[in-house]
Amino acid sequence: MAPHATEETSSGHLIENSISPNQSTIAQLIDALSLDEKCNLLSGANMWETHTIPRLGIQSLKTTDGPAGVRGSRWTDGTHTTQIPCGISLGATFNPEVVRRVGKILGSETKRKRAHVLLAPTMNISRSPFGGRNFENFGEDPFLTGTLASAYIDGVQSEGVGACMKHYVANDQETRRFNMDEKIDERTLREIYLKPFHMALSVNPWTAMTAYPKVNGEHVDMSQHLVKNILREEWGYNNLAMSDWGGLNDTVKSILATTDLEMPGPPLRYGRALKDAVINGDVSEKCHINPSVERLLKLLAKAGRLQGPGAAVTEDHSSEATRCEEDEEEFDDPKTRQTVREAAGEGIVLLKNDSGALPLAPASLKKLAIIGPNAKYPTTGGTGSAIVNPYYVTNPYQSIKDASKSINPDLEVLYERGILTHLQPPLLGDCLVAPDTKQPGMQVDFFDSDRFEGPVVATTNWHDSLVYFMSDGDVPLSLRGTRYTYRATGILRPSVTGTYDFSFSSTGKAKLFIDGDLAIDNTEWTQISGNFMNCGSVEQFASRELEAGKSYVVSVDNLVVPPPTPAHDNTLFHKISGVRIGMLYRHDTDAMFRNAVTAASVADAAIVVVGHNNDTEREGSDRTSLALPGRTDELIRAVCAVNKYVVVVTQSACAISMPWAAEPAAIVHAWYQGQECGNAIADVILGAVNPSGKLPVSFPNRIEDHGSYEWFPGDAASDQAHYAEGVLVGYRWFDAKGLEPLWPFGFGLSYTSFAISNISIQGCIDASGSGTILITMTVMNVGRVQGSEVIQVYTSPSPVLKELGLSASPKSLASFIKIGLDAGESRQVQIPVQGDSFAWYAAEDGGTGRRGWRVDPGVYSCFIGTSSRHIVSEVSILIG
Ligand code: BGC
Repeated sequence: MAPHATEETSSGHLIENSISPNQSTIAQLIDALSLDEKCNLLSGANMWETHTIPRLGIQSLKTTDGPAGVRGSRWTDGTHTTQIPCGISLGATFNPEVVRRVGKILGSETKRKRAHVLLAPTMNISRSPFGGRNFENFGEDPFLTGTLASAYIDGVQSEGVGACMKHYVANDQETRRFNMDEKIDERTLREIYLKPFHMALSVNPWTAMTAYPKVNGEHVDMSQHLVKNILREEWGYNNLAMSDWGGLNDTVKSILATTDLEMPGPPLRYGRALKDAVINGDVSEKCHINPSVERLLKLLAKAGRLQGPGAAVTEDHSSEATRCEEDEEEFDDPKTRQTVREAAGEGIVLLKNDSGALPLAPASLKKLAIIGPNAKYPTTGGTGSAIVNPYYVTNPYQSIKDASKSINPDLEVLYERGILTHLQPPLLGDCLVAPDTKQPGMQVDFFDSDRFEGPVVATTNWHDSLVYFMSDGDVPLSLRGTRYTYRATGILRPSVTGTYDFSFSSTGKAKLFIDGDLAIDNTEWTQISGNFMNCGSVEQFASRELEAGKSYVVSVDNLVVPPPTPAHDNTLFHKISGVRIGMLYRHDTDAMFRNAVTAASVADAAIVVVGHNNDTEREGSDRTSLALPGRTDELIRAVCAVNKYVVVVTQSACAISMPWAAEPAAIVHAWYQGQECGNAIADVILGAVNPSGKLPVSFPNRIEDHGSYEWFPGDAASDQAHYAEGVLVGYRWFDAKGLEPLWPFGFGLSYTSFAISNISIQGCIDASGSGTILITMTVMNVGRVQGSEVIQVYTSPSPVLKELGLSASPKSLASFIKIGLDAGESRQVQIPVQGDSFAWYAAEDGGTGRRGWRVDPGVYSCFIGTSSRHIVSEVSILIG
């Protein structure tokens, strides 16, 4: 097992003295490892890392979240990083090249954060507009998801680190997400939910993560059918499969299903329990443990974590949050800023543009009103595992104002927030500083007792009024497993005199003091809320009169104890500990609303920026309405009533209702675009970027029209969710039922227009479904500015489905291409359609002996268009 000299990967990543991942070195390592060591290797050492085995030169592997940026070790307030547009915004680009570039940025940030595997991309399907984690997904279509996820993975891995395709499979809702049993018929599973994962294997993802829920009666990590039979045997995936965090559900069944690694550590079901299972004869070391260890070692070798025996590898048991964080680097690269800005702009969708209202021409305006809760306080990304601490954030108000004034310095820009839409009072932000460092946030002192006395064991600082320990690995080593307390203290200096409402939510038994007075006693709480991954209390409230410029000591005493009743099966989340203090100046909300309408009435044009926020669209809970929060609809209508030139910018990762859609001159849907949010919106509004985003999800007129409506999120009492809409997910349902959506899948306008002509078709697909057809056409930019169009090809279903009485989508996305053209330019484009686009999955052989994927002979149609509802041509193809 001779170590190699220092080597360099294709991406320039230095791997010192790593051993090569060839079969014989891995086999020798497996021989050299004891059963104890193997079982340790198959379980996390801490929140993010695997174990080291110093005597054999095996180093730990560090993983990191997540889909919208590389967070590093600390859940909140961690190392700064690039915040990219969220998955659904990337989905809306319909541009694999852009997604690959963004993936590459994430790959280099992964290296900077000293990690080896990025826990992304999320490849689940946005089955319902209510799904809490929709922001992570690429949309409702499996082909779009599979194509973009492959580009993302390819980009990440081009930097010499691994990606993780997650969550395999059907992690589609937050309601009872650890316990829900999703009943999904085999055909639907194959054609919709599994398809993106299968497609992504073409770029060889280094790792996969199993999903939390049960599918057809069994948790995915322990499913022979899903992991062993399909992923491994049928698809030939022989890289590492890890559990989702706290989602390894059974020692024996999971290892037998070939789920290799329990995350995080310390383990509950692998580790010691796995060794016992081998000793008891329930698990075979040779047949079950060794193949998993082999997959892990191969991953370690790829990541340069096998140093060979005798290398200096030390076991480090200190807190990963402090140790890993120390090594993490920040680099706010101007080139990265530009790439992220372009990617964000490409995802923005222009939904309506009456009489060319956009782009806005600041030179022709005297007064511009920028209104709305998201104008100065935009939503830049999702929550949960998508949380990052961005290098910076740009907001639409500032970016639009700056760009407009650079064109017309005399322009007067008015701003009014209009309404409040947060469900929880916001964190205290900059008006709170830690007593010692005077930096924004709070100081947290730990005590080794169940009181708040004696020597301070350790002190940490948090950058705001949220303290969030994700696991006991985040707390000082000496306190783990003991009954301990912490006190968080900050100095509050408000800038406005008035009444303030404080909110307080905690895990454990906590008290909030303001200037030494007990403001909220939260020691005896019993009711759980969505805070702290559904392990925190509901919020308690207190109000105080505060004077501007005066200092107040805000402190929290928290005795760390497990939640009163386990809320769900996830064992990790019971270890979360934290406190959240919110504070809101008591506004006169009617006056706020009136002021916004007045500003709109005196301006020549009004831009209203509204949408969801991290309270109303979040991991851990599903929504129950399509409506935008609070008085949003009312505000838009009131502004439209007093101004003819209104542009509404909406932010959400899901379909929303727009009962006012007929009223404004223009509507722009802007998702969550990460750190460049403000600039990207300004670029589109002012025409620096010609919008080319297309909706990756259908927007229904009413939720009752959506295919998931009747069945999402299932029945929380019986923990069953029937995916009874079957394959008719998203636009497939609207097409099959003849329903008109508010905005269809694939739709998005441009400041120019395109003409498609000379369509022809070449190639053939044989009776086995092999072959590719090429659809050739001329695309011309017939407008006056440069722009890009997404040409979409949908295929019709097999005629046999009808004969068999099986439901079929009238059309399914089979291919797409994004083409950029200068004004007046025309180009010939070729769009390939693969034979498997015509395949469907026969779950039962029905006596025909044809169970499995099949392509039936017959005449099919290819629909060519610029959205699922704007089809410009239909061409026929004979198969077989
Ligand atoms: C999420 C994963 C994430 C993991 C680690 C889980 O709760 O489902 O997507 O990667 O936590 O943060």
